[in-house]
Amino acid sequence: MPPHPPTIPDFLYGTAWKEDRTAALTELALRSGFRAIDTANQRRHYFEAGVGEGLAAAYGAGGVARADLFLQTKFTYQRGQDHRLPYDPEASPGVQVAQSLASSLEHLGTDYVDSYVLHGPSSGYDWTDTDAEVWEAMRKERDAGRTRLLGVSNISLSQLEQMTAAHNEGPAFVQNRCFARSGWGRDVRSFCRERKIVYQGFSLLTANVEVLRDPVIATLAAHANATPAQVVFRFARAVGMLPLTGTTNATHMKQDLESRELALSAEAVQGIESLGMT
Ligand SMILES: NC(=O)c1ccc[n+]([C@@H]2O[C@H](COP(=O)([O-])OP(=O)(O)OC[C@H]3O[C@@H](n4cnc5c(N)ncnc54)[C@H](OP(=O)(O)O)[C@@H]3O)[C@@H](O)[C@H]2O)c1
Repeated sequence: MPPHPPTIPDFLYGTAWKEDRTAALTELALRSGFRAIDTANQRRHYFEAGVGEGLAAAYGAGGVARADLFLQTKFTYQRGQDHRLPYDPEASPGVQVAQSLASSLEHLGTDYVDSYVLHGPSSGYDWTDTDAEVWEAMRKERDAGRTRLLGVSNISLSQLEQMTAAHNEGPAFVQNRCFARSGWGRDVRSFCRERKIVYQGFSLLTANVEVLRDPVIATLAAHANATPAQVVFRFARAVGMLPLTGTTNATHMKQDLESRELALSAEAVQGIESLGMT
C-alpha cells in the first residue's frame, strides 16, 4: 500500500504531445521543481513509458524519490485511442480498466499512482452504464491500493450531476479544459467547490489566447513584473484551481512555478474571473 496519505499538489506538469522528448522533459520538470506529473495510457497523445524513463532518470540522479511525487494517469476508452491499445478491446470495460492501470504502473515503474482519472465519459451527453461500470472498476483498483485517489476528466456539469447521483462516492478530481468565456469553468468549479472536489484546469493559456492579450492582464503583469501566463496561473490558484502546464521550455517551467509567489488582490482576481464573459 502507498506509504503516506495523499497530498494534493499545487501545480501539475502535463506530459501530452511530447513524444520522444517525453523522458527528457519529465526529468527537466522534476529538476525545475515540479513534484506532480500528469500523463495517460493513451499512446496517441502521451508516451507514458517515456514518463517512466524520465522518472527513473530523476530517481537515479538523486534529489527526488517516488514518495516525493504525485503521479496521475488516466484510463482512456478505445474511441480516444489509436491502434496502440493498453488493453484487450474485447474484454469488458472493468477488465480494460485493470489491464490499463497494470500497464501504467509498469510504464511508470511504480506499484501505485496517486490519482487515476477517467479520461472522459463514453458519451458526450450522459453518464452511461458503461461509465458506471468503469467507475466501479476504478474504485476497486483504489481499494486494492493501486491508486490513492480517483478523478474524471472532460466532463460537463450535467454528467457530473448524474455521476454523483449514481454513485455513493464521487471523484476527488475533475480535470477540464478551462475557458475564460465560461467564467473559467464557473459552473463546474462551483459544483466541485461545494463537494470538495479539486478542479484541475488545463489549456489555461491555449484556450484563452485573446484574454491573455487583454489590457487587464497586461497591466497586472506589468505591475507585478511578471508575464501574462504567470498572472493566469496565479489567478487559477487564487480561485482554488489546480493548474496544469505542459510547457517544453525551461524558462517557462521556472516562471510557471514562480507564479505561486505572485501577489494578486481579490479585486484583480474578480476582474480576471469575469474577463472572457464581457
Ligand atoms: N484531460 C485531457 O483531455 C487533457 C487534454 C489536454 C491536456 N491535458 C493535460 O494538460 C497538460 C497541459 O496541456 P495544455 O493544453 O494546458 O497546453 P500546454 O501543453 O501546457 O501548452 C501550453 C502552450 O503555451 C506555451 N507557453 C507560452 N508561455 C508559457 C508559459 N509561461 N508557461 C507555459 N506555457 C507557455 C507553451 O509553449 P512552450 O512549450 O514553448 O512553453 C505551449 O505551446 C497536458 O500536457 C496534459 O497533461 C489533458
